[in-house]
Amino acid sequence: MALRFEPIRPEFGARVSGVTLNLGISDPAFSEFRRALDEYSVLVFPDQPMSDSQQIDFSRLWGPLEPTKGVNPASGTFFARQSNLDIATGTIISTSDRRMDYQRGNYQWHADSTFKRIPSLCSILTAREVPSEGGNTEFVSTRAAYEAKTEDERRELDSLTVEHDFSVSRGRVGFKFSPEEAAHYPPVWHPLVQTNPVTGRRSLLIGAHAAAIVDWPAEKGAALLAHLLDRATRPELVYSHRWQVGDVVIWDNRSVLHRATAYDTVNRRRLMQRTTISNPTVLETPAYRQIETRRLSIVAS
Ligand SMILES: [Fe+2]
Repeated sequence: MALRFEPIRPEFGARVSGVTLNLGISDPAFSEFRRALDEYSVLVFPDQPMSDSQQIDFSRLWGPLEPTKGVNPASGTFFARQSNLDIATGTIISTSDRRMDYQRGNYQWHADSTFKRIPSLCSILTAREVPSEGGNTEFVSTRAAYEAKTEDERRELDSLTVEHDFSVSRGRVGFKFSPEEAAHYPPVWHPLVQTNPVTGRRSLLIGAHAAAIVDWPAEKGAALLAHLLDRATRPELVYSHRWQVGDVVIWDNRSVLHRATAYDTVNRRRLMQRTTISNPTVLETPAYRQIETRRLSIVAS
């Protein structure tokens, strides 16, 4: 069967068919996936159940895997676990448990790992257990958001540096890190505008972790970030993925935001396993080098 990409929305997203991921992926097929991620930003592979080891093998094709550290229950592995199930017992965690407060952070629009110094290329999420209602993952394109701006607006955005801070984004949902946990996540800087090195298309690195615009007064920076987020996430621009067990979805963390929708966490089970692909080579680009030079000069002064 031929590999097929069926667009989901005009701006982004494609459903992929004509492949069985667990049977091994030829180099030409993987090149097609890689090209498609640059073009579509979100790739949906329906009905491709994977074990943990199969997910790791598939994920390694895309680049270096981020190890999970800190507060996520799967800390110490290559998985980030999005679930209301206790990792050891498989039973439902009480809603008052701190781990569920942490999970609620995923209801905010965000891109994964933007609070890390080395940003992520993409995430791969596999559905292991899904509730009968809710628990969708929703996506919007920050490439479309950038491209909708006027030339003057884009010129200003191109010049800005954004600070991302995990403590701020979890704080927005009332989750507080302990001092030891917070030490894992110092604030980091990124170019607000990201450029895809293959297509040259630009996008905005915004979302819940985006806390400030560097060199701007806090209020002005927060207002710009809120405005950009508001425009990017208008309901008519959203693709909402209704999960079936066995679905695999890959998204480009440089060009889309995502969020989980609420579900009945008391009576329904949800287990999603994410692998996250790191993008260390972006740190060698002029935009990142400039930011790092600036940061080091501040540290030194
Ligand atoms: Fe996420």
